[in-house]
Amino acid sequence: MDKGTKDEGPLRGTKDQGPRTNEIVSSFILHPLSFFRPPSFVLRLSSFFSRRPVRILDPQPAYALWADSYPPLAHNPLMLAEQAALETRLAPLTPTNVLDLGTGSGRWLPFLERTGAKCVGLDFSLPMLKQNPASSPLVCADAASLPFPNDSFDLILASLMAGHLRDLAGWVAEVRRVLRRGGHLLYSDFHPLGAAAGWQRTFKTATGESFAVRHYPRSIAYQRAALVGVGFKIQAVLEPGLEGQTSSAVEAFRQRWGERPVVAVFHAVKR
Ligand SMILES: C[S@@+](CC[C@H](N)C(=O)[O-])C[C@H]1O[C@@H](n2cnc3c(N)ncnc32)[C@H](O)[C@@H]1O
Repeated sequence: MDKGTKDEGPLRGTKDQGPRTNEIVSSFILHPLSFFRPPSFVLRLSSFFSRRPVRILDPQPAYALWADSYPPLAHNPLMLAEQAALETRLAPLTPTNVLDLGTGSGRWLPFLERTGAKCVGLDFSLPMLKQNPASSPLVCADAASLPFPNDSFDLILASLMAGHLRDLAGWVAEVRRVLRRGGHLLYSDFHPLGAAAGWQRTFKTATGESFAVRHYPRSIAYQRAALVGVGFKIQAVLEPGLEGQTSSAVEAFRQRWGERPVVAVFHAVKR
């Protein structure tokens, strides 16, 4: 499924996998509410397919601008596909200590809290955390260097955050450190085929300015190797498309792009 993506090079010692040229510096277009506001729908849809150049911001300044309008729910068809896939993996789990990495405005914490587990949300964007209504503790820190002792959690979720990290292999090693043996890592990202097609991950500010968030796409094979390389056992890699979604936006997407995976969900267990 990861045809068309480039070899990302060695896993270790690869400090910076990007930003790269346009064909790979993907930013997937995620206009909040674009699929739920019919009046602006057509315009927004054209943006969805657009590859017009916009300024690319690093994640912290980007999310500082985006936070006010970033709803804590799946706000486009890609996120709906991602959420459904993650939920199928989360449903059978009965964790006791959960870390929601890149918790953002809090889409996942209510779901995780309903498991009865003790939850913590972490994000390096204070503006995003300020939007997060969770009752669980929230920590402002970088996911690349987690402020927790070894073996702290039995489930770590990282939804749509890993693509922002420069060093994926270093991050999975850090996540493994704070997971207990047998603990689960579930993370998602936009599918590398989207990046290969030049899709961008953009947003619009309240004043109407468009930006893209820096994103480092990696092939499925690279991500599998990164997980296995630090001592995870891969339980599943899901690559859902928009199957089962029938809005006119999705129909237009299908006509332009066909059926294709839009997100990747990795489920791994610490050996
Ligand atoms: C696309 S949002 C996803 C938010 C939430 N997980 C969701 O799915 O709705 C990505 C989040 O990851 C956070 N993030 C990105 N890189 C991070 C890092 N290195 N450390 C901590 N948080 C990070 C951003 O600040 C942002 O809140």
